[in-house]
Amino acid sequence: MSSILVVDDERSMREFLTEVLTKEGHYVSTAPNGPSALQYIENEEFDLAVVDIKMPGMDGLELLECIKKINNNISVIMMTAYGSEKTAVNAIKQGASNYLKKPFESVDELKIIIKKELESLQLKKENILLKEKLKKQYAYKNIVGQSVKMSAVFDIMTKVANLDSTILITGESGTGKELVASAIHYNSLRKEKHFVTVSCGALPENLLESELFGHKKGAFTGAISNKVGLFELAKGGTFLLDEIGEAPLSIQVKLLRVLQNKTFKRVGGTNDIKVDVRIITATNKNLEEAVANGSFREDLYYRLNVIPIHIPPLRDRHDDIRLLVDHFVQSTCSKHNIDCKKIDEDVYNVLNAFPWPGNVRQLENVVERMIALEVGSTITVNNLPQSIKQYQEPVCILTPEFGEGGVNLQKIMEDVEKKYLLDALERAKGTKKTAADLLNISFRSFRYRLRKFSLDDN
Ligand SMILES: Nc1ncnc2c1ncn2[C@@H]1O[C@H](COP(=O)(O)OP(=O)(O)OP(=O)(O)O)[C@@H](O)[C@H]1O
Ligand SMILES: [Mg+2]
Repeated sequence: MSSILVVDDERSMREFLTEVLTKEGHYVSTAPNGPSALQYIENEEFDLAVVDIKMPGMDGLELLECIKKINNNISVIMMTAYGSEKTAVNAIKQGASNYLKKPFESVDELKIIIKKELESLQLKKENILLKEKLKKQYAYKNIVGQSVKMSAVFDIMTKVANLDSTILITGESGTGKELVASAIHYNSLRKEKHFVTVSCGALPENLLESELFGHKKGAFTGAISNKVGLFELAKGGTFLLDEIGEAPLSIQVKLLRVLQNKTFKRVGGTNDIKVDVRIITATNKNLEEAVANGSFREDLYYRLNVIPIHIPPLRDRHDDIRLLVDHFVQSTCSKHNIDCKKIDEDVYNVLNAFPWPGNVRQLENVVERMIALEVGSTITVNNLPQSIKQYQEPVCILTPEFGEGGVNLQKIMEDVEKKYLLDALERAKGTKKTAADLLNISFRSFRYRLRKFSLDDN
């Protein structure tokens, strides 16, 4: 049900509209002139006003102007006599949503125009609510972390959110790069506009190009119509180019042009299209290495790396683990609409000792799984996955000591192996293929070994 104000100096018209709209299920008020309509608007919440243009005293256009000043969220539909469409068009320029010609051609037409207007109003409201929700979700306070290292990240974020500088976010997989990028957007001057993301590694080269820049009809086989690219969709907002290290060289050239000239061309197009977006890029690759081995353009790297933000791996900020666990317990319980569960102190200790190769995402998944599977009110060490429960810090292998009973060679060898597996993974910034190469073993063998020691909990 919507609330509608009908303003017309003709009584029969007020009565007619009241009858039709009330039957449609709306709450209808009426006013015979501009001043009394304004009194209503000041005292009540209306979704829509249906206003006659031609009224003695204050006319519809004047009233429209006053309504918009009092409450810009009210939609206004003007009613105009046949032959005076020009005035109606002026009214639309001044902020009216639509107009109805009097006398009405059919009651159905009247109902449809009003219904459409109310539907688009509802959509606008939902959009605003959704944006508000996103803004709250990406408020800085929802990025958990009080460690010195995360405080440094927050510090840069708040300093640069309102600048338009290009940002390069680096960090291992699951450390929160996308979360940080969205928080920067929703705390910037561009927050009312779109936050668009694309993963440069997810699409083949030609698809990525048309996704980013759009294409003209007929630009290539299959381009059956014009397509608007993400750079245009992100207009006025922020564009996160995720996994930028995976962008093919041909795309890198085009991105460089966007950064240098603030323009691009659609695939198959000849016109330069202006770009107004803030660019944030993210990667878990070491771009300096990629520059050194020729897979990433140096000039582009410097253009992207204006403000670098590095998010440290979770194992380097143990102080945050407890806070993150509590945060995820709370968010999971509220998501599933269940009472908040308690966490045994021992659980925190075990979680603290684990090296978290999958970082915050892995921790989030572990907490969510434990909460979902435990019917009781407390989470204990028993709820933890085997791989985390059984994880032991590898012993030092350089100075073995023989006790009276000798040594356990099997365990020592396993510990050596575990240490090398984890160290390689750390050096490879979580990329298993690279870690396997570092150890000169195959990817399959590396994965098998991780599983054997229950280190693979991604
Ligand atoms: N500091 C944090 N506080 C709360 N949640 C976090 C934090 N860091 C990460 N997360 C959560 O962890 C998950 C992974 O974060 P995100 O997707 O931003 O990581 P990423 O670095 O982009 O990972 P990838 O490299 O795999 O794309 C998300 O669900 C995110 O909400
Ligand atoms: Mg990401």
